[in-house]
Amino acid sequence: MNQKKPLPFQFPKKFLWGAATSAHQVEGGTHNQWSVWELENAKSLAKQAEYRQAELPVWSEIKAEALNPRNYISANATAHYEVYEHDFDLLKKLHLNTFRFSIEWSRIEPTEGAWDPEAITHYKRYIAALNARQIEPIMTLFHFSLPIWFAEKGGFEKRKNVRYFVRFAEKVLHELGTHVRYIVTINEPEVYVSQGYLLGTWPPAVQSKKRAAKVYWNLARAHNKVAKMAHGMSRRYKVGIAKNSAHHYAGDDAWLSRATAAIAQWVADDLFLGRIKKQLDWIGVNYYFSCRYYGYRMHNPNEKVNDLGWDMQPERLQQVLERLFVKYNKPLIVTENGVADRNDEYRQWWLTHTMAAMHRALQSGVPLLGYVHWSLVDNFEWAYGRWPRFGLYEVDYTSGKRTARKSALWFARVISRLKD
Ligand code: BGC
Repeated sequence: MNQKKPLPFQFPKKFLWGAATSAHQVEGGTHNQWSVWELENAKSLAKQAEYRQAELPVWSEIKAEALNPRNYISANATAHYEVYEHDFDLLKKLHLNTFRFSIEWSRIEPTEGAWDPEAITHYKRYIAALNARQIEPIMTLFHFSLPIWFAEKGGFEKRKNVRYFVRFAEKVLHELGTHVRYIVTINEPEVYVSQGYLLGTWPPAVQSKKRAAKVYWNLARAHNKVAKMAHGMSRRYKVGIAKNSAHHYAGDDAWLSRATAAIAQWVADDLFLGRIKKQLDWIGVNYYFSCRYYGYRMHNPNEKVNDLGWDMQPERLQQVLERLFVKYNKPLIVTENGVADRNDEYRQWWLTHTMAAMHRALQSGVPLLGYVHWSLVDNFEWAYGRWPRFGLYEVDYTSGKRTARKSALWFARVISRLKD
């Protein structure tokens, strides 16, 4: 007799359930434009921490880490480059059947035009290890980290540099593509551009609207070229992007609030997607927060915030999915979604509301193919360093040990029941 309460939601049998990582954040031992920048900036990031982060809800708990320059250096990260097989077993333990990861360009092409056979072999084994476990790979080509030589040439600021990225992508598909279907060309173009070229908080730490615009449009070009190349190689490839997407909405009925929200939504989503929509087989959605406007100002409810101070409204993922589908008529995958939550206070609540939101979107007809949680393991959170904890598994950075969080075990139970 089954005494379990029925679940309030159902998902298609073939739905992909998974977790995501990116190379620089988990692999360890990467040598790229980010690792160089970390070493140069660790001390100043530690010095700025008090005035940048003291307002965060967990400040007293993270203070010692945040003030320590070592927090800002990725170094061995989570050693995923060595222990990936073990990490894939951890995915299986949670009943997950997809994994999103990125290929580290600086490993494949450490100097211009020279491919590293060992790195290629590594990623071949890596993908084979996923295939062996029946885990669907979702392979990202650019997730914020770049080879030093490419960054020195001006990176994506120069239109003529786009060809280097296309050449890398072609090599990757040629060598590693046989057992991969889902390709993400670029992770979060707006985040990369705004952090690196407007706010100046990430490498190359520039504050220039003109340079930002160049990078932005060149990323769109890069996507289009890689998608064309991939489709020319094989129709098997389903080429998408991981788009940071928030729900921008008005807090009241005033016309200014509504106009601000509509414009913000358009700038945040449609400016870029409009440029690449012909070369998109699916849209990846990275959802972490939404933005509420009163007049021309953003003012979020902040009833619940995560460890990074981000307003948490998991249920608004529904509106994001519905809008993107109505506007672009493409299948969707949630390619990132999660919380910085070191005490695992909110993750289960977040996941419950997220699943309910996806269920509602599916019911309204959105072709949602999967959900990928950020992240499988705690990892290196860019300019914040190691202290933010996004993992389904907690990582002990001294021993490297992974321990499943309670919320992850709960998530695994729900997924296994959904598959019953
Ligand atoms: C990025 C990840 C990052 C996560 C949490 C996304 O912006 O793609 O690299 O760790 O959000 O901040």
